[in-house]
Amino acid sequence: MQVTARYDGHADWYDGWAQTSGAEIMAVARAALGELLPSGPGLAVDIGCGTGVHAEFMRDRSFGVVGLDYSADQLRLARGRLPVGRADARALPLRSGSVSLVFSMFTHTDLDGFDRLVAEAVRVLEPGGALVYVGIHPCFVSPFVERMSDGVRLHSGYKTVGWQARTPHTGNAVRHRVGVHHLSLEALLAAFLHPETRLDRLIERGGSAVPEVIAIRVSRRP
Ligand SMILES: C[S@@+](CC[C@H](N)C(=O)[O-])C[C@H]1O[C@@H](n2cnc3c(N)ncnc32)[C@H](O)[C@@H]1O
Repeated sequence: MQVTARYDGHADWYDGWAQTSGAEIMAVARAALGELLPSGPGLAVDIGCGTGVHAEFMRDRSFGVVGLDYSADQLRLARGRLPVGRADARALPLRSGSVSLVFSMFTHTDLDGFDRLVAEAVRVLEPGGALVYVGIHPCFVSPFVERMSDGVRLHSGYKTVGWQARTPHTGNAVRHRVGVHHLSLEALLAAFLHPETRLDRLIERGGSAVPEVIAIRVSRRP
């Protein structure tokens, strides 16, 4: 499957955004990650690590982290925060059953074949190991969702899985720059319905009237 490094040329901007306008959503996502993490210490693999903005959070919880991403530009910045490698999330350069914790943050909106990312994460997990995924909530944050002062208004398009054309609700930040691959909730959850996994927990966090983030933890069956 072809990979396009959509973040090449945007890494400096993305890293700045994650620490300014994006800091709030990042904090919500990290808190959700923290709720679902097993107890440390341990070694974790961050799939689609971007510029490595979650490495310090993980180290504070006694996890060493190795980051993998396809964008050389993102990895240029990540390298200052954690050990990294360039890899397609859908074909991980890791041995099967070799990792106890895999996590991935905000990636289902950035690639084709999220189910393959999950399948690869499960493949590299040792029996009993955990995969934690934290992403934008597909029902309440998408190019089809208009933010209102007291909630959101849903427009047509939700069922259109795949790369999306810009809409008036795409915003001027990340999605304006790199595009968005939308999954319905059904398609997102289907990726985790893997024969070797067990659903441990699913949470919705952030936002006031509606949640902005969905977080899922599955474990590889012993
Ligand atoms: C929205 S960013 C999230 C980055 C980081 N996880 C964070 O929370 O800041 C999505 C990341 O997924 C990466 N990505 C997209 N497709 C990928 C692929 N096929 N393999 C590996 N990484 C990929 C992008 O390069 C980008 O860094």
